[in-house]
Amino acid sequence: MIAEVLTLNEENKIGKVISVDTSNIIVKVDNHMIMTKLSIGHIMAVKGNYEHEKLICIVEKVTRSQFELVETEEGEEEDIESNTNDLIRATLIGTFKSVDGLKRNVFKRGVSLFPNVDSECFLVNGDNLERFMNILGNEVKENQKLVVGNFANDTNSLAILDGDKLFQRHASILGSTGSGKSWCVATILEKASELKYPNIIVFDMHGEYSPLTKGESKIAEGFKIAGAGDLDKNNKNIIYLPYWLLNREEILSTILDRSDSNAPNQSSRFTTHLKDLKLKNIEEESVKKSFTVDSPVPYSLNKLIELLKEDDTGTKKGAANKDVKGDWNSKLTRFISRLETKVEDKRYAFLYNPNEECNTYDWMNKFIFNLLHVSDEKKGIKVIDFSEVPSDILPVVTGTLARILYDVQFWMNNEKRTPFTLLCDEAHLYLPTKDEADAVQKQALYNFERIAKEGRKYGVSLFVVSQRPSDVSKTILSQCNNFIVLRLTNDRDQNVVKNLMPDSLKGVTDCLPILDVGEALVLGDAILLPNRIKLHEPNLKPESNTVNFWKEWDANQPNEEEIKKAIKNMRAQARL
Ligand SMILES: Nc1ncnc2c1ncn2[C@@H]1O[C@H](COP(=O)(O)OP(=O)(O)OP(=O)(O)O)[C@@H](O)[C@H]1O
Ligand SMILES: [Mg+2]
Repeated sequence: MIAEVLTLNEENKIGKVISVDTSNIIVKVDNHMIMTKLSIGHIMAVKGNYEHEKLICIVEKVTRSQFELVETEEGEEEDIESNTNDLIRATLIGTFKSVDGLKRNVFKRGVSLFPNVDSECFLVNGDNLERFMNILGNEVKENQKLVVGNFANDTNSLAILDGDKLFQRHASILGSTGSGKSWCVATILEKASELKYPNIIVFDMHGEYSPLTKGESKIAEGFKIAGAGDLDKNNKNIIYLPYWLLNREEILSTILDRSDSNAPNQSSRFTTHLKDLKLKNIEEESVKKSFTVDSPVPYSLNKLIELLKEDDTGTKKGAANKDVKGDWNSKLTRFISRLETKVEDKRYAFLYNPNEECNTYDWMNKFIFNLLHVSDEKKGIKVIDFSEVPSDILPVVTGTLARILYDVQFWMNNEKRTPFTLLCDEAHLYLPTKDEADAVQKQALYNFERIAKEGRKYGVSLFVVSQRPSDVSKTILSQCNNFIVLRLTNDRDQNVVKNLMPDSLKGVTDCLPILDVGEALVLGDAILLPNRIKLHEPNLKPESNTVNFWKEWDANQPNEEEIKKAIKNMRAQARL
């Protein structure tokens, strides 16, 4: 005879439900011995209203209090156990039905009928737990399975996520610094790389994912936004993001000082020239008709500066036909100087001074194809290294790239579209909360928020990774359907996660500060049971190893030559 999935007997009986408050229950423990086997995150089953139905809950809190020992009439002290009041608070997570219509052994999230007071409650452990976990794994279809680790409470059981659900409607990996986010990203990328045509673009802020892009067993293509030292390299994996890809607002956010009294004149002259120059360069007649000033069409920035200078020094005929200052005379000087400084700065060259080829009309086809294309030879996971992008324009660079990729996807034939995901590591750097965003960050926010709100319909999703959830745009986080949350020590950050959860899951997040490195809670529809998971280590590890200060100080002396080299690199803004 096949064993019942949940065999509930006296041995694993805990006690009885004494209080029910929506999805929270309190159980009074009768079997005090079992308390030694219990910890936060353990699974319990409560007898439901029908014989074939068990309500599954997760232990949130365990309390023990002792009564004063009172001497009985015979002068004996009462047995200590009867004076112990053990209580367990638990969250109801779902319903297990051994029979559900024609199906057997089905687990569903959610509870339709709450348990009665006095319902018996059992610990699910040992063979029961293993069989139950197997059922969970079976609920995800074979080709959608994404194994990320093992359940911490039952290390024999694999934690299986539904890959479709995880990527479909935005997800987020949150956790304090050093909690294991980057490793978790690498593990997920590794699993995705086993698919035939995965399409994930990783925004790598510190160049830490480069080990994934090197060697025989590489799983991703490596790209880098050109730094000052890359400008003369002829390498197709060095990315330029020419200024003409930026729309009017984006480029203005990097050069216009809105507090300047001439800002309206500056922006209006800039826009006029921008439009004229772009229009001249459009090669297709059909595009000309509906083009806007924001259309990504190459133009010459030097030519635009020339035109602005003409305005800035221009004259007009005044009374008695005398030459007088033109309408914009001297009003654009500061704007031009800011623009010229940017064009000359080698750190910004990937944007304002890209190589000649990037200014050709067809360049964009190649550029986007390179980023979105997947083939048997070319890996579908692309890691873009942003480490040398100056921080003041980082948001606009990430935002523009995301917008262009999204727009291309938007305009693609419905039936020919294939989905892709943008994985935004260190998202707090460029997706801040609205109140704290400057002009440049607002542009990035606008673009990413648009993807967060509409991307699902066009097969574009976001995977947001951050160590400071409280500093990340609320709009974006609240659009995420799945959260992989690692250890979070800060109160504010924990509250952000709590507030993103439905009431029934709020209690589960109590364990966030006590999670171990590499341990996570997965919350959302990609997993049926929100429980502690020990994440697998990736084979190719990101270069994010925690430095062993104590050991290092005892072993390695700082090297004078290396310090000099670093100073040289700093001056050159390149690793020479
Ligand atoms: N699943 C894991 N198993 C074992 N050790 C791990 C695991 N994940 C991470 N670690 C350890 O923790 C260290 C830090 O991990 P990781 O770089 O992923 O942190 P992080 O959360 O990305 O930090 P930061 O926010 O600073 O980028 C790793 O170098 C590794 O030693
Ligand atoms: Mg990291």
